[in-house]
Amino acid sequence: MTVKQRTQVGIVGAGPAGLLLSHLLALGGVDSIVIEARSRAYCEARQRAGMLESTTVQLLRAVGLGRRLDAEGLEHDGIYLQFGGERHHVNFRELTGGRWVTIYAQTEIVKDLIRARTADRAALEFEVSETEVAGLDSDHPVLRYTDSAGQRHEVTCDAIAGCDGFHGICRPAIPRGGLRLVAERSYPYGWLGILAKAPPSTDEVIYCRHEDGFALHSMRTPEVGRLYLQVPADEDITRWPDDRIWDELQRRLGVPGWELQTGPILEKGITPMRSFVATPMQYRRMYLAGDAAHIVPPTGAKGLNLAVADVAALATALIRLLRDGNPALADAYSEHCLERVWRATHLAWWMTAMMHVVPGQDPFESALQLAQLRNLVTSRAAATMLAENYTGYAPLRYDPATRVVPTPLWPWVA
Ligand code: FAD
Ligand code: PHB
Repeated sequence: MTVKQRTQVGIVGAGPAGLLLSHLLALGGVDSIVIEARSRAYCEARQRAGMLESTTVQLLRAVGLGRRLDAEGLEHDGIYLQFGGERHHVNFRELTGGRWVTIYAQTEIVKDLIRARTADRAALEFEVSETEVAGLDSDHPVLRYTDSAGQRHEVTCDAIAGCDGFHGICRPAIPRGGLRLVAERSYPYGWLGILAKAPPSTDEVIYCRHEDGFALHSMRTPEVGRLYLQVPADEDITRWPDDRIWDELQRRLGVPGWELQTGPILEKGITPMRSFVATPMQYRRMYLAGDAAHIVPPTGAKGLNLAVADVAALATALIRLLRDGNPALADAYSEHCLERVWRATHLAWWMTAMMHVVPGQDPFESALQLAQLRNLVTSRAAATMLAENYTGYAPLRYDPATRVVPTPLWPWVA
């Protein structure tokens, strides 16, 4: 027998987008259920993003999720850009009049959110299967799933949020013709990422263009490093024993007088690189947020930050729709988000194209990459463009207690 339930918002996916949406809706007095295919342990351990825009940090603090982030997050003034054997610091704080970035792993954000939702006795179900969405042409779409004990559920909702990532079921459930544009670009390389018990050999993140490919030195804590190497898109991870990874990182990241500290590799994996945007990000009362709607290559560190920006806008819109009966922000959700999504898609594409080198690359391409990098470290205007885009765009002011006024993304343009 199927258990029939009712909620205001049915949320598919307990990644950062789905969990934060549920948290923000609850602050605005809107009920939701979150269903997740994987186990809680899996969601809390999945290694992904680490770099937060200052606007993301400010939002998490404002909604009561800043305690551990403030205690354990590593605040950085900027990044290093390395090319042609030179390493240059780009100081975002100085260039933007105070904006910064914070290293705090996605795993920790997910743990904080699950703890907060559980403490709030939220409806949050892990290890569900056979998830389906139906009734998308009505004002009461339906979410169906089988729980971890094998019980089938049918939840009638006022809205559904597809926060189920790139491979989820919500976007494909949009009827034919419902998506007007699906723009996609794949790249001929991926990132081999490691998590290592090795103290970071840098105080801030290093983005390095090397003739043999890109490398990035990031970190998670003062004891744990997170480092990446550009590899071919179809690379086999078994070709990369630990010693080869460390040797290649030292070779690409090395500058005179600098030594890379090594240590046991705790985890390694290869991430493909892709740009993808589905438009519009909504079909009637089903709204897509985060990776379900768009993917960026990780070079600009935008994926997680975009997911947070989407759900801040979506929560505000759904609270206005379902609590106050005003559909204006919900109707404008996709249009509002896509401005930021395309801005971030451009930044990620541009940084990716500038920093990755493919074997046998045309010398014209290489010279253009180096000319752009030189411009970034010698022109204040060019560095400011990078700093403004990297540190984040103004988010929606999230204030569920009062009427929420969307802030224009680029107030100086308005
Ligand atoms: P997800 O985190 O993907 O969450 C979606 C959730 O939905 C998952 O938990 C999934 O199990 C669940 N789900 C899927 N289908 C169903 C279903 N049918 N029923 C129920 N649940 C379902 N970004 C950066 O900024 N920097 C990085 O270094 C970086 N590295 C990355 C590495 C990898 C391997 C990947 C895949 C992404 C990376 N990203 C990075 C991107 C960033 O992690 C994502 O943008 C972010 O996770 C988006 O959050 P989300 O909640 O939208 O999606
Ligand atoms: C990370 O810390 O994992 C990280 C940092 C910057 C990026 C991508 C990933 O651009």
